[in-house]
Amino acid sequence: MKIYAYEVRDDEIDYFTQAQKKFDADIILKPQLLTCGEIRALEPHSAISILGLERCDKDELDSMAMQDIRYLATRTVGYDHIDLEYAKKVGIHVCNVGYAPDGVADFTIMLMLMCLRNYKQALWRAHVNDFSLNGLMGRELSGLTVGIMGTGRIGARVARDLSGFGCRILAYNRHPVKELEDIVTYVTQEEIYRQCDIITLHLPLTQETCHMINANTIRKMKDGVVLINCARGALMDMDSLIDAVETSKIGALGMDCVENEEGIIHLDRRTDIFSDRKLAYLRQFKNVVHTQHMAFYTDGAVRSMVDGAIQGILDMAGNRSCRTQLV
Ligand code: COI
Repeated sequence: MKIYAYEVRDDEIDYFTQAQKKFDADIILKPQLLTCGEIRALEPHSAISILGLERCDKDELDSMAMQDIRYLATRTVGYDHIDLEYAKKVGIHVCNVGYAPDGVADFTIMLMLMCLRNYKQALWRAHVNDFSLNGLMGRELSGLTVGIMGTGRIGARVARDLSGFGCRILAYNRHPVKELEDIVTYVTQEEIYRQCDIITLHLPLTQETCHMINANTIRKMKDGVVLINCARGALMDMDSLIDAVETSKIGALGMDCVENEEGIIHLDRRTDIFSDRKLAYLRQFKNVVHTQHMAFYTDGAVRSMVDGAIQGILDMAGNRSCRTQLV
């Protein structure tokens, strides 16, 4: 069975070459996005891996079913870009990957600290030999209350990392995690909004969580709240963020993802006309740090994304239990 890997970055190639040997798999690497046209040109009965920079909906899944392509692996933890219900309906088995949460957790803490220490401005100034301190006085994490929304693998890692900083940690999760109860206090979402100086999002993007950070929920937060998002952009409503940064309701925003970031992230857009007005406006604020959806991006995670996808496809196709199978 051929495995077609799409959206392959140059830095993944070595890992794919190693996976090819390790799993004795026939893997064809394609840098481009997966489209219906692409799928129609693939060898029937093969399998596909994607990276989640484009949606995989009804049309793509129908095209796969037509080619009798039955196995799809996304090299990501998140799977909101795939219509799983429809995949199930047309008989396509889908898996994601479960790389270590450490890299995303590290990045989350880095964004928190950058926000608390006004590091975006400090960095700008240092570029032009301005070493002044005015306006850069920060706050210490140890005196603050941090709220973790979602304590799956990443949120739990963030909680454990934060426990060394001496801050008070509140958490919200539909099902509290027993092993975390000695370092976090589980509360309702409302209490997170009411009590926390910093709120960090680690929930999956679903119909329920889409735009959970909006004008209404921001209103409930403390003045000057620091918001961190290393999960999915659409958890936050862009217009509400802009309003709240303009009025200083949000004191600082660290975001590794934004809604509608497809076509922007991981691409060099320097010589293009950048027409996402909302993002261009939001990211110019001194207290908004926006990164290119790179919290995941470590050597260990990339290797494990590649290996996990190939292993997942082979397990599903071989009728073995696949740890990360979604449907
Ligand atoms: C994920 O693994 O869910 C990510 O966000 C990684 C990114 C390549 C889309």
